[in-house]
Amino acid sequence: MACIQISGGCPLCGEIGLQGSKNAVLPMLAASLLIPGETRFFHCPDIADVRAMAALLQKLGAAVSWDKGVLCVNAAGAHPVVLNEKDMADTRGCILFLGALTARFGQARLAHPGGCVIGKRPVDLHLLALKALGVVIEESEVICGRTKLVSGAEIVFPFPSVGATQNALLVAVLAAGTTRLHNAAKEPEVVHLCHFLNMAGAKISGIGTAHLEIEGVGKLHPLDYTIPPDRIVAGTYITAVLAAGGKAFLKGADVGELFSVIEPLKAAGAEFHLFADGILVKRSAKARLRAFDYIKTEPYPGFPTDMQSQFVALAALSDGVSIIEETIFEARFGVVSELKKMGAKIYLNENKVVVEGVLSLSPETLIGRDLRGTAALLVAALAAKGESRVFGVEYLMRGYEGFVENLKALGARIEFDAL
Ligand code: EPZ
Repeated sequence: MACIQISGGCPLCGEIGLQGSKNAVLPMLAASLLIPGETRFFHCPDIADVRAMAALLQKLGAAVSWDKGVLCVNAAGAHPVVLNEKDMADTRGCILFLGALTARFGQARLAHPGGCVIGKRPVDLHLLALKALGVVIEESEVICGRTKLVSGAEIVFPFPSVGATQNALLVAVLAAGTTRLHNAAKEPEVVHLCHFLNMAGAKISGIGTAHLEIEGVGKLHPLDYTIPPDRIVAGTYITAVLAAGGKAFLKGADVGELFSVIEPLKAAGAEFHLFADGILVKRSAKARLRAFDYIKTEPYPGFPTDMQSQFVALAALSDGVSIIEETIFEARFGVVSELKKMGAKIYLNENKVVVEGVLSLSPETLIGRDLRGTAALLVAALAAKGESRVFGVEYLMRGYEGFVENLKALGARIEFDAL
């Protein structure tokens, strides 16, 4: 079983470019099913989740090809096909085919989606939105949606679900009439999807707010689109530099999308220089980070749940006591047991951890159990002087392109070990 070998304790120094955003491109790939003709995705990350979605597009009859980092999708010849449990196992993003298939063909049959085991992850809000838009839903081990006419609706989300907002958008853009979404998710990945759809001919307004208005159009047209940089990958590299010490320039990082990550780090003593074309982050080996008084994960623009594990790793090394509360997912503290093996002092109580920072962590063999948790264990191992091994490479590959290569370019002593 593959793992990543790290000889920790080296400061990181240099410049890296940022991959395209996984959580921005996945919904756009589902949306490409609505577009008869070739859509080209520039700066598309070559990661397992993208390849899984591309394979499903091919199963649905779309032509898919990679051309030097550009992913081309032509869904003109697409047709409805049942997506079974195996098809849906690899990523949560494939739930968006529910909306795309229904909008394109008036029918969808797909198993429940896979993705990181960080909670139950129901799809009730997705189904609530589609039913409001006139889709007849039957849910058993397979989710079936069918409709003769999708008509605009007024939808109020009880919770600003990212995926449910995206599925509602995919159906509403081709619906007859106007749809209004209230308490919609405002994550950048929803904003990027709205821009993508509008560039394809959709009519969405209120972008970036919790109230989206979609005027249905007859059809969408092909386009070229450049995937924005991945804010969570940028945040992960920032925590890696702060854990190991050093200085790095993250080319392309969008400061605006990282405000709720950078602010608590600055308060903890991290040094940032913000530029139009990227972020410089620095921590000298002598200046230990101070603890985070209180971090609470929230829907955007609050602190992102996808950075929670990485902050627990940082808190383990900080000076003082940090409290981190997870309010989005009910089982997202998989890193705690692994960090405690390294000597971290972490007390878990339901959806909160209290972390008493220690001066150093010991190298260990660590088991990653989800995408961001595995990245967080690598962050911790970079700081621990000595030889660590991190398992869970298959999770990392889902969302991080060239992670090991980039860390090596920054001076980390890190290698894949195929074992
Ligand atoms: C997206 O997941 C992201 N995944 C997640 O990133 C991210 O953590 C999450 O949004 C929150 O920002 C992708 O974009 C592929 P939600 P999604 O619907 O859409 C509950 C990563 O590491 N809920 O906003 O699944 C749900 O159980 C991944 O890249 C319902 O109860 O997130 C969760 O507790 C992890 N019913 C909360 O809402 C529903 O119908 C947030 O879920 C839908 C969601």
